[in-house]
Amino acid sequence: MLKKLFSKSKKGKQFEEFLLDNECLPSHIAIIMDGNGRWAKKRAMPRIAGHHEGMQTVRKIARIADDIGIKVLTLYAFSTENWRRPKSEVDYLMSLPQMFLNSFMPELMERNIRIQMIGDKEGLPNNTKKALDEAMEKTKHNTGLILNFAMNYGSRAEIVKAMKDIMIEVNSGNISLDAIDETMIDQYLMTSNLPEPDLLIRTSGEVRLSNFMLWQLAYTEFWFTDTLWPDFDQHTFMEAIHSYQKRNRRYGGLKGEEMK
Ligand code: FPP
Repeated sequence: MLKKLFSKSKKGKQFEEFLLDNECLPSHIAIIMDGNGRWAKKRAMPRIAGHHEGMQTVRKIARIADDIGIKVLTLYAFSTENWRRPKSEVDYLMSLPQMFLNSFMPELMERNIRIQMIGDKEGLPNNTKKALDEAMEKTKHNTGLILNFAMNYGSRAEIVKAMKDIMIEVNSGNISLDAIDETMIDQYLMTSNLPEPDLLIRTSGEVRLSNFMLWQLAYTEFWFTDTLWPDFDQHTFMEAIHSYQKRNRRYGGLKGEEMK
């Protein structure tokens, strides 16, 4: 049996000093994992050592997300802009899915975790694509946490593709211009089978979206931390979720008493 990291009570799950309220857990958490390079630099190590450590953090955070009952964890692992990095670094980043999925697969199956990806898969090197394809195929009937990697992902490119796909249907007479609405656009995005993120976390002190899920994050709660991704741990994760649980999500409207 896998060791559970928390204790349960009637009210919720106690995680260190944080009592998580079962009633308002975020279903979908999206994370911009930033700061691997700085983490390595601080230790006079090559940048790829930071990415390797970042991969270990992915494993730890996926376990915790699964333990507390998060439904979807989307991780920004490689953006369409990251190709501008030195070839050796890009090659290393592209080797990570294979390394990660090979070693984590038995546990993914045991935990009933499903692997998914968003991004331009065809633009990935063959080995990377193969590793992701195999993992997605192997885990496709798993019904627990969805571990969704954004690989070669750019939100604007995703939206452009959705627009083109919709236009193809319009031009061939399958859908009318009037039928295009927000729900339809949702269905043409790569996240069509996922709920919108409830919580976005970005590590390393940067406070921007970097072309990540621009459409999907319209009503998401944001949480930023100075912690570098390789140092992100159970405590920081719980702090983020705890902060989310204290937010008052109004979606542009008013709530309860405020309406009177
Ligand atoms: C940004 O930090 C991070 C990335 C571009 C890569 C993130 C990838 C991982 C954390 C590992 C992914 C794991 C799998 C299994 C796919 P940075 O390098 O820009 O850091 P810096 O801003 O400090 O230089």
